Amino acid sequence: MKKSRRSFIKKAAVGAGLLSTANTWGKGSNFYISKMKREKFSWNDQIQVAVIGAGGMGVADANTASQIPGVKIVAACDLYQGRLDDAKERWGKDIYTTMDYKEILNRSDVDAVIIATPDHWHKQISVDALKAGKPAYCEKPMVHSVKEGMDVVNAQRSTGKTFQVGSQGMSSLGNEKAKQLLAEGAIGKLIYAEGFWARNSPVGAWQYAIPDDASEKTVDWKRYVSNTTDRPFDALRFFRWRNYLDYGTGVSGDLFVHLFSSLHFITNSKGPDKVMATGGLRYWKDGREVPDVLLGMFDYPECEEHPAFNLSLRVNFVDGTSGSTYLKLVGSEGAMDVKWREVVLRKNEAADPNSDPFLQGKSQESMASMAPKRKKMTGPKEYLYKCEDGYLGAHYDHFNNFLTGVRDNKMVAEDAVFGFRAAAPALLCNDSYFNNEIIYWDPNKMKLK
Ligand SMILES: NC(=O)c1ccc[n+]([C@@H]2O[C@H](COP(=O)([O-])OP(=O)(O)OC[C@H]3O[C@@H](n4cnc5c(N)ncnc54)[C@H](O)[C@@H]3O)[C@@H](O)[C@H]2O)c1
Repeated sequence: MKKSRRSFIKKAAVGAGLLSTANTWGKGSNFYISKMKREKFSWNDQIQVAVIGAGGMGVADANTASQIPGVKIVAACDLYQGRLDDAKERWGKDIYTTMDYKEILNRSDVDAVIIATPDHWHKQISVDALKAGKPAYCEKPMVHSVKEGMDVVNAQRSTGKTFQVGSQGMSSLGNEKAKQLLAEGAIGKLIYAEGFWARNSPVGAWQYAIPDDASEKTVDWKRYVSNTTDRPFDALRFFRWRNYLDYGTGVSGDLFVHLFSSLHFITNSKGPDKVMATGGLRYWKDGREVPDVLLGMFDYPECEEHPAFNLSLRVNFVDGTSGSTYLKLVGSEGAMDVKWREVVLRKNEAADPNSDPFLQGKSQESMASMAPKRKKMTGPKEYLYKCEDGYLGAHYDHFNNFLTGVRDNKMVAEDAVFGFRAAAPALLCNDSYFNNEIIYWDPNKMKLK
């Protein structure tokens, strides 16, 4: 039996509603562990998938997609010959390979495409894929600049094809548990959220290896820059594209966007209305155009979905001490640390009604208050939610959601509207940083104020 994502979420929410607060967090030890479970889906027929941009993430995406029963990789497109050769070795000599993504879109044996090119190609390939009738999974951030966002939204709306953006965390058990806990009131009223990505290595800071054979003979450079500034061949700009604004979107487009996707999924938010960023290039001075430390601050306005709250995000590529990534939601009654595989909920200490200094003074007037107070029993304050052993992970779940949408010809949670609302504040961080200004955004209308 096929289960749409919508019915799965609805079922989870109803199930959650049946549990009283006490049953959910009120029993057990001080560190209460609960297992998170994934429902099973079943599959009937084959979906043939092509990957456009068969580099690091394109390979990871295609490999994850092909773990799902009934999915076959049939074609690959890339602008570097080495990647096309690898694709044939990886997915079979008979797969179709090309440097022109339009050839992929014209093929009747391709049912859906994965778009995992550098960011400056996301919009055009997504729009062309949808218009060619191909459902598409496009890597994050959905677009390279805010002005491109509505083109993808409109292409999805006019074609009605399934389109999903690749912030896989939001399909995770961790994000779903956090969404459920927030809705149940586990942390009270949302006040503040924060998140970060910390890295401390050359590869983490995007200093990737350049293949020995990199040249205009093996790379279709002309095609690569055909939608941006025309420049002579530069292997750094091709293989380390994240460092340059013509192709990448800096640390905010690359990494903040994951935190926005998770936060918006958990809170049902449409996004902030005020964006401020600062930072600098502190350490990786290798000719890059983007900062390696970025701090973003965001105001989320009160709306139907949530109260007004503040968000603070940071990326630091020169930090080897803070762990790697983190998202925390703080409410009036507690806080949650949310990871894709784990949620830690901490409840606030209950305020002691006798701690009011005025009441204390009053009570000392009576002799009874001289007697020691009898101690009380307290309940658990910290709860750990962990995935069951064998959980296949967020990436698998995200592809499962996408391919379920493709089979049923339905929309998925991280569609073009969601993807744009997650990308926009991340991209506006760059505008705020480079132009040294506060940016006002209308998250409902998805345009600058
Ligand atoms: N969801 C995640 O966790 C995650 C992780 C890493 C990367 N990404 C995203 O995936 C995308 C790719 O990143 P990457 O790290 O794999 O980069 P990469 O450089 O390893 O791969 C990009 C590939 O795209 C190819 N390419 C460039 N222009 C093309 C075009 N017009 N047509 C076809 N192929 C083209 C390049 O030759 C290269 O092989 C980016 O948008 C990035 O933000 C997502």
